[in-house]
Amino acid sequence: MGRRVGVLVSGEGSNLQALLDAGVEIAAVASNTPEARALARADLAGVPNWAFPLDGYDDRDARDLAMADWLQTHGVELVVCAGYMHLLRPGFLDRFPGAVVNVHPALLPAFPGAHAVEETLEAGVDETGATVHLVDAGVDTGRVLRQERVPVLVGDTEESLHARIREVEHRLLPEVVKELVGA
Ligand code: GRF
Repeated sequence: MGRRVGVLVSGEGSNLQALLDAGVEIAAVASNTPEARALARADLAGVPNWAFPLDGYDDRDARDLAMADWLQTHGVELVVCAGYMHLLRPGFLDRFPGAVVNVHPALLPAFPGAHAVEETLEAGVDETGATVHLVDAGVDTGRVLRQERVPVLVGDTEESLHARIREVEHRLLPEVVKELVGA
């Protein structure tokens, strides 16, 4: 049996859904907010899930350690950030050394951060993409594991471009996670 997978989410959860639909076995789903629609998707799939909002803890370090504890009680060894919008504190990363991955809607190192698609359009480039990378303590600075290009089309809006990037993410992320789980 491969490494047990935990998924971190903040919002819609379409990447979580893609992992579930691809048959990736998920042991637990954690969120920084109880409002993430992703938690309802976890519920529907029968996956244990819990929200860890910052206001329930003294600081980010305490919140991240509580989240790491909870994931580890579910046997999680590989953490997948699937639209998780908070930075992870070093104390969390130390619990899963070299075993935290993220999916990002740009061709890193171009356009790191939380507004990648908007900034891509503002920059007027004609190509962007999706990246799956290891997470370190920086903002989208960890080693790139896989990337795929997506063209920026004339007339693209943030929504239309992000939708095309998500389509690629939904294929790329499960592929990489399956390889890492088996490794
Ligand atoms: C994805 O595009 C991901 O790259 C970015 O946030 C989006 C999350 O989408 N970090 P979803 O919640 O998986 O639908």
